[in-house]
Amino acid sequence: MHASLERPRNAGFMDLTAGGEALKIPSDAALKRAALCFSSFQNHRREHGAGLLTSALYPTYPRADLAFKHGEGAWLTAENGDRYLDFSAGVAVLSLGHNHPHLVETLKRAAEAPWHVSNLFRIPQAERLAQRLCEATFAELVFFTNSGAEAVECAIKTARKFHAVNGRPERYRLITFEGAFHGRTLATIAAGGNAKYLEGFGPPIDGFDQVPFGDYDAVEAAITQETAGVLLEPIQGEGGLRVFAPSFLTRLRALCDARGLLLVLDEVQCGVGRTGKFLACEHAGVAPDIAALAKGLGGGFPLGACLATREAAKGMTLGAHGSTFGGNPLATAVGGAVLDVVLEDGFMARVARLGALLRQRLAELEDRYPSLIEEIRGEGLMFGLKTKIPNADFAAAARAEGLLTVLAGDNVVRLLPPLIVDESDIAAATSRLAAACARLAAPAEKLGAA
Ligand SMILES: Cc1ncc(COP(=O)(O)O)c(C=O)c1O
Repeated sequence: MHASLERPRNAGFMDLTAGGEALKIPSDAALKRAALCFSSFQNHRREHGAGLLTSALYPTYPRADLAFKHGEGAWLTAENGDRYLDFSAGVAVLSLGHNHPHLVETLKRAAEAPWHVSNLFRIPQAERLAQRLCEATFAELVFFTNSGAEAVECAIKTARKFHAVNGRPERYRLITFEGAFHGRTLATIAAGGNAKYLEGFGPPIDGFDQVPFGDYDAVEAAITQETAGVLLEPIQGEGGLRVFAPSFLTRLRALCDARGLLLVLDEVQCGVGRTGKFLACEHAGVAPDIAALAKGLGGGFPLGACLATREAAKGMTLGAHGSTFGGNPLATAVGGAVLDVVLEDGFMARVARLGALLRQRLAELEDRYPSLIEEIRGEGLMFGLKTKIPNADFAAAARAEGLLTVLAGDNVVRLLPPLIVDESDIAAATSRLAAACARLAAPAEKLGAA
């Protein structure tokens, strides 16, 4: 059926294939591939306008037309040679920045050893990493995953199973909060409760009762005989860097204890040192029963973990859960190397100190540009600027000045620098943000002067 398709001669087409390979090899298969590519390009343009095409990938992301050829520390070099200061860090993934020598060395060594053995055998790297996570946190047991959503899934299953083995299988519901984001699997979109992410995917998985952000009375009122626990991000990332007050977490902990419920924390974005503590809940002096980690834990290698007390994980016995790749030797070797650095004496104190410096600089910008910045939120090196103009416009202006940021809900622009940034990176980010603000404020000032 592709025989009738013309050879693609579109000038832009070369950019859409892997290095233009399809056009250089004029075999039938290559031409078919190219034709398919071209037709999906046309479909894409029809359905999404002339926006950026990302070849045969699902068009589920609003991708910027930028690709990178080199990264070092907090800096990225684009294919055209432009340099960017990366305060997006792969959405809080690159805890140690790009190409950290210890991670590179560890991964190279791990690549010489068996890449993968199944979880039907012992994996010493995973055992060591689990042990270190337990020593660094409230946890006594760990289940490794490949992503944040899987870590949260495991947390949800662990909470449900706890009550089931306690003879209360009807306790399967978790209380969650508006603005939450827990991932994109069917269970985690139900937990997040964002209508935009649920639409079109059939009936949401049952078992989540959402209450307004930070509303303690609403949590209390939502508890029923079916409640298993409370699930929240101590700092909502995608929801707009909304920080739950430490006193709120303390009250939730007490409430869970009093009512036999589990406190389940999603620290996928705010964990692993990002806030200046290994877990963000440590700022409140609160220990959860279960916590999900990912993102920064692998420093760029896909790795997640569900942490639990022995008691909370009592239902997760032989055969209760599984993952082919979870805890594989490559991932857990790299995770171990991340911990080597993050758990070094003084590392997290440094994150807190640099975070305070960045906060001060951002506050100065807020004072200088009250028409652009409404509020600064966050903790450690996890910041959100709530902007008065559309956040996408602000982020685009920052990118034009060579600073990469990430958007969040509630009209927020996130700054999530690698945790290894130094004073000069903070200074560079500040001057780029100041230039972006000046660029954005100019038209408003001109209008005011007219
Ligand atoms: C708080 C939180 N939980 C879960 C997830 C899902 O993680 P992943 O995309 O690795 O599945 C994210 C991702 O942004 C997150 O920020």
